[in-house]
Amino acid sequence: MRQPIENGIRAKPFVRSLRGEVQARPCFWLMRQAGRYLPEYRATRAQAKGFVDLCLRPDLACEITLQPLRRYAMDAAILFSDILMVPHGLGQKLEFREGEGPVLEPVRDAGGVAKLEAGLAEFSERVGPVYETVSRVAANLPDATALIGFAGAPWTVATYMVEGGTSKDFANVRLFAYRDRAAFRRLIDLLVEATTVYLLRQVAAGAEALQLFDTWAGILPEDEYAEWVLGPVARIVAAIAAKHPEIPVVFFPKGSGLLYEKAAAIPGVSALGLDTAVPLEFARRLQQRTTVQGNLDPIVLTAGGEALDRAATRILEALGGGPFVFNLGHGVIPQTPPENVGRLADLIRSWRRR
Ligand code: CP3
Repeated sequence: MRQPIENGIRAKPFVRSLRGEVQARPCFWLMRQAGRYLPEYRATRAQAKGFVDLCLRPDLACEITLQPLRRYAMDAAILFSDILMVPHGLGQKLEFREGEGPVLEPVRDAGGVAKLEAGLAEFSERVGPVYETVSRVAANLPDATALIGFAGAPWTVATYMVEGGTSKDFANVRLFAYRDRAAFRRLIDLLVEATTVYLLRQVAAGAEALQLFDTWAGILPEDEYAEWVLGPVARIVAAIAAKHPEIPVVFFPKGSGLLYEKAAAIPGVSALGLDTAVPLEFARRLQQRTTVQGNLDPIVLTAGGEALDRAATRILEALGGGPFVFNLGHGVIPQTPPENVGRLADLIRSWRRR
């Protein structure tokens, strides 16, 4: 959808960028812009019993969503939550352990999938606080700032559900997909259904754009990529477009390499999130068919100084003349000095197309 006017009101700059409008200065936001690198995040997090509790406390999650905007006035806020709220909503046991990341009770067979299918009935009730957070943020945003809702894409969420957490080789989930295709397909179908409901409810609560995170898209061979990445995402995007054609969707299939071209061809995907490894020349090719978002190295943001200025300027020069949103190629890391984010924000705001 590329029309700039809806109900007589001009959409916010970020939404217009995603729809393909070229802005005088590119819009920006950063993946994980709220998080441990900010002292105010750590203080708010300490008020919750744990990370899952934090995600389900609308007062705290709303506060955390707004924290980076107060410092850096990004063009968009991203809902503070986690992609693992969907498995939680389906009744899978989820815990975040200090220094270890997420731990889930693994699902490895048809019986496990059946239990989660039964959990769908209570899904919206379990994740209800997330929708409440979206409403609160929407009511408290600066006028020109857009609100991004999000979910994990089915493949990436399935990797955590089957592996029981973060993985190095993804052997369990990939073996499940090869050995019992029917059961794995049921798991993916369940995630397509739950994720669609989840995103539509975020839109109803006030999200103005959506992002699908497919962090582990890049580990699959071409045919498996078509099956578990492209297909499921196409179904979710089509279901959203059917009800809300005005809501742009960003797809971030990290590590896709040449397969980014296939991702760009999914009907209804408004913009592609590019990871750090995508060459800018290739990004410009993708830009001819879609808006691109990315792809500064989060580590150069942590390094700061002239290395940061150089890397950010190179991206702005390469992509700033076309449909583009400035972002990182992956999330802000906890060691990042907050002043480096300020330096980057100033640099983007003062850059002009030549
Ligand atoms: O971008 C944002 O600012 C919005 C919030 C957000 C979080 N996670 C908060 C978070 C978003 C969009 C996510 C997405 C997410 N979560 C992804 C996809 C993007 C990516 O980073 O690849 C994935 C794979 C997860 C799963 C997840 N959540 C892991 C593996 C971990 C542990 C690793 C880590 O960084 O701690 C998390 C925890 C998490 N999610 C934190 C935050 C701020 C840190 C929790 C803490 O405070 O201890």
